Amino acid sequence: MKSLEVVLARPVADMPVAADFHVVERETDAVAQGQLLVRVLDLSLDPYIGSRLRGRHLGGAAPTVGGRLPGECVAQVLESKAEGFAPGDIVAGEVGWSEYGVLDAGKARKLDPRAEPSAHLSVLGMPGLTAWAGVTQLAKVGSGDIFTVDAAAGPVGGVAGQLARLLGAKAYGIAGGAEKCALVRDVYGFDDCFDYRVEGWTDRVAEALPEGQTVHFENVGASVLTPMLQRLRVGGRIVLCGLAEHYQNSTPATLPVGTVIGKRAHVHGLVVYDFYPRWAEWIELATPWVLSGQLKVVEDAVQGLDKAAAHFERLMRGQNQGKALVKIAARA
Ligand SMILES: NC(=O)c1ccc[n+]([C@@H]2O[C@H](COP(=O)([O-])OP(=O)(O)OC[C@H]3O[C@@H](n4cnc5c(N)ncnc54)[C@H](OP(=O)(O)O)[C@@H]3O)[C@@H](O)[C@H]2O)c1
Repeated sequence: MKSLEVVLARPVADMPVAADFHVVERETDAVAQGQLLVRVLDLSLDPYIGSRLRGRHLGGAAPTVGGRLPGECVAQVLESKAEGFAPGDIVAGEVGWSEYGVLDAGKARKLDPRAEPSAHLSVLGMPGLTAWAGVTQLAKVGSGDIFTVDAAAGPVGGVAGQLARLLGAKAYGIAGGAEKCALVRDVYGFDDCFDYRVEGWTDRVAEALPEGQTVHFENVGASVLTPMLQRLRVGGRIVLCGLAEHYQNSTPATLPVGTVIGKRAHVHGLVVYDFYPRWAEWIELATPWVLSGQLKVVEDAVQGLDKAAAHFERLMRGQNQGKALVKIAARA
């Protein structure tokens, strides 16, 4: 079967741009025993792919020039040579940037059909699991906590703040721009959101949280972490999740150790892979909230693989508003 796919056109040394990729047509692999032929519905674009393209990510090696770009997808099974899977099933797995693909059944997750398939790339997917791990397993957020998180319009930050509120905390977002802050406040329902692009934003945080926060969840890097650490209450918790502003350059992501000591802060490094064995637990907890609309992530989607490269460049520039996705086909 012929399939369009996006491949690496040249090695990536700095921030990936659309011209680093191109679309080719290839024949799909033959389906062996234990494998599934799938049609991709939605492709997830995530910040880690930028690091992976430069060989700087735990999740796998960089593709070679001409190789298919990596990425998590939701897909519909067309042919199954694996027990427990049948044509029509909706699955998630790493097919990559492609219309069709062959997945090892052992690496495919059969999805709960109650939620939209694309929810399994955002709120119920890896970003939502990351938020759950940081909020409930590491920082153990609960009633009475004052929770702050940056990149709050994105899927990790957005779910983290909504989850903190569902657990009885107050949640405050930090995001780049008025539109993102409106999304965080009005759609995700955070108590407030601060636009770090506006001069004096830390004064606004100080006015809103005169006694500081008990938990800070970091997704961006030193420019937000340093001032937010200064506002942390003594004995507070910090979750170090992501460094979006440092991925594309060599600026060191520093941690002000003196402030950590003075605050008697509890610092938790988060790697979502540690929590993959507990993914079903998160889906079980979150699905009713997703179905009732209490937990949501806005999708920032384009239609078609030919749009994927430019959309990915937007994500790399931090211009996405919500979960970056490429819609490829409708569920049959
Ligand atoms: N530790 C783990 O296991 C794990 C797992 C998943 C994700 N993560 C990390 O969690 C963070 C959030 O992930 P996400 O999928 O929800 O991403 P996202 O929020 O959709 O996108 C990243 C956001 O980072 C912000 N940002 C600030 N400076 C940036 C810069 N120089 N370049 C690009 N982006 C910049 C932008 O939001 P603003 O404009 O609002 O600042 C951008 O929208 C990322 O750092 C990601 O790598 C970590």
